[in-house]
Amino acid sequence: MTLQQTLSIIKPDATRRNLSGKINAKIEDAGLRIIAQKRLCLTKEQAQKFYAVHAERSFFNDLCDYMISGPVIAQVLEGEDAVVRYREIMGATNPANAAEGTIRKEFAESIEANSVHGSDSPENAATEISFFFSTLEIAG
Ligand code: CMP
Repeated sequence: MTLQQTLSIIKPDATRRNLSGKINAKIEDAGLRIIAQKRLCLTKEQAQKFYAVHAERSFFNDLCDYMISGPVIAQVLEGEDAVVRYREIMGATNPANAAEGTIRKEFAESIEANSVHGSDSPENAATEISFFFSTLEIAG
């Protein structure tokens, strides 16, 4: 077991429906700590930069437009094996495939409006955390 940090984003479909408290409760009930959190509106350029790895995908432009359609809440989560643990709590990318009790099963509207993002590796977590937060803003 390794103490890790991961980057979470509560996406515009969830902030629009006022679900951040319910999502945070699921995160905390699963034993992860929210050690940094901020609400912000991304610019199109910032969304494109954050999701640059998907730039060649057919859904890239729609995804970036969706991510700027309302406020998001960026978070740093900390806990044992936080990267994999948070992906378990989130559930599958497509809510149609997500397991019972997961955030996406309960709250996601579609594969695009899927309520939350979580880093997919410790290396990407470090990159994604530094995209949103300075070390001064993280209180572990
Ligand atoms: P996320 O975990 O934030 O990482 C990339 C996002 O792209 C993903 O969640 C979905 O919101 C979105 N995505 C992935 N696959 C598709 C798809 N086939 N169609 C539309 N959006 C997708």
